[in-house]
Amino acid sequence: MSLVDVILSRRSIRKYDDKDIPSDVMDKILEAGRQSPSAANRQPYHFIVVSDSEIKKDLPGLVSGFLKNAPVVIVGCANPEVLLTGKWAVVDTTIALENMVLAAWSLGVGSCWIGAFNEQRVKDKLQIPESWKVVALLSLGYPAENPKQRKKKEKSKLFSFNKF
Ligand SMILES: Cc1cc2nc3c(=O)[nH]c(=O)nc-3n(C[C@H](O)[C@H](O)[C@H](O)COP(=O)(O)O)c2cc1C
Repeated sequence: MSLVDVILSRRSIRKYDDKDIPSDVMDKILEAGRQSPSAANRQPYHFIVVSDSEIKKDLPGLVSGFLKNAPVVIVGCANPEVLLTGKWAVVDTTIALENMVLAAWSLGVGSCWIGAFNEQRVKDKLQIPESWKVVALLSLGYPAENPKQRKKKEKSKLFSFNKF
């Protein structure tokens, strides 16, 4: 698949096969995060890769039960106190997470962003430093569903040319 086809065919996947993601595939997904752009190349992020089912089961405050069925969950954390570029830390982390989503999809691995979580409880459970921000979680696994494309806004509502 070309990169554009990867982007256009991606769907959020919430149901997963009962099959682990091999370590070489996981390495590529993480490398796609590591090679992301970041403001002044400060890389003000840290990603916790959770595969231990006991920890996953306890990841608290999530509205969606599907998370515990994903073989891997990546917790994206940003350091807003990084020197000079702190205001970009969340953006930098978001870019790296989406790079991982797209790399995963290109390798046949589905994922879903998860924004509905209790930040404090996730921090406590995973020993994330208080000054850091938990940006989002990603669930990952081989798709056991084939969702239709979600309705997206009309192009004319999203894009304009030369003025707003
Ligand atoms: C920042 C962010 C947070 C999200 N949080 C959740 C979530 O907590 N639970 C969930 O089921 N999906 C979540 N999603 C997935 C969206 O619902 C999904 O991207 C949207 O419905 C469009 O579907 P698509 O990804 O298949 O295009 C989130 C997506 C983003 C980008």
